[in-house]
Amino acid sequence: MRFRSIATGRLLWWSSLLTLLVLVAAGCAENYPQTTLEPRGDFARMVDDVFMTTVRWAILVFVLVEGALVVAIIKFRGKPDDPEPKQIHGSSVLEVVWTVIPAVILVMVAIPTIKVIFETAKEPANALVVEVIGHQWWWEFRYPEYGITTANELYVPVDRTIDLRMVSDDVIHSFWVPQFAAKRDVFPNRETRMWFNAEVTGEFPGQCAEFCGIQHGRMGFRVVSVEAADFDRWVAGMSAATEPVPVEGDSVALAGQQLFLTKACIGCHSFNAADPPPGQIGPNLANIGNRTMIAAGMLQNTDENMARWIRDPQGYKEGSLMVMAGEITEAESAALVAYLRAQQVVAPSTVAADNQ
Ligand code: CUA
Repeated sequence: MRFRSIATGRLLWWSSLLTLLVLVAAGCAENYPQTTLEPRGDFARMVDDVFMTTVRWAILVFVLVEGALVVAIIKFRGKPDDPEPKQIHGSSVLEVVWTVIPAVILVMVAIPTIKVIFETAKEPANALVVEVIGHQWWWEFRYPEYGITTANELYVPVDRTIDLRMVSDDVIHSFWVPQFAAKRDVFPNRETRMWFNAEVTGEFPGQCAEFCGIQHGRMGFRVVSVEAADFDRWVAGMSAATEPVPVEGDSVALAGQQLFLTKACIGCHSFNAADPPPGQIGPNLANIGNRTMIAAGMLQNTDENMARWIRDPQGYKEGSLMVMAGEITEAESAALVAYLRAQQVVAPSTVAADNQ
């Protein structure tokens, strides 16, 4: 009876382990765009290499230590009438061996780590500078080379180093786009830098990684990496966006245009990407009609979501600065959506979603 229960226990143990392994394997097959384990840029690849180096050493240590343990358990198993084993307490040889081996392993991990710290801290050459400004709770991106300002969607050309110069407008945030680069804190009154080179085209989600208030978890953004020609097209479109896209002939959108003024959206938002008026506290809305997401990566940019967001910004993002002047009816939100949807200055990018 006892034998059978041990056998059943073992069977249970092995089948649980197998189930776990299958689940882990199935999990790995999924696509997690915010994983750090599938780098798509050189910066992230270097960081991943350090991580994998550490993992390999850890596996080696695990196998050697557990192997020795298993061998010891099997080979030196005590029997009831065995004499007292030989005592080895205070063995200098053993003390030296198990001090030196871990020290050597730590050095082997430290060398690539320090190398990568220095490599990633280098000033990149011929890079495209992007100024990143963290706001509670959205991201502003400025391209000084082109004079463009945008929000929550960081367009980058593939295979070109992007040199991020980051500050915060309020509290401490952290810029994190897992598949391209690492995390880096974004401070008020102090510039931090990071660079990355997108190796593939696609849309990659990023996230604020430093608790920065009630909506910290909804402070997302997208990196849209596109071919050089697509990027030039985007730059041309955004550079030409100094005025809202006219909506003459569309009575609903025209009503929306009027509401944009009277419901005071205009007080915080501008459609001027090339030369935005100073002191605007809301995200720049040039090309909003063609963006993938709204509300800083929180909602898909559909008409329904946009209408909901306009009618109840505090319901979606409590504490955000977005407040409408008075109630917004369904008809009013529909008109505003029609007007915002018309704000397309760059044709939708043809990014092949390599990461999807
Ligand atoms: Cu910004 Cu968390």
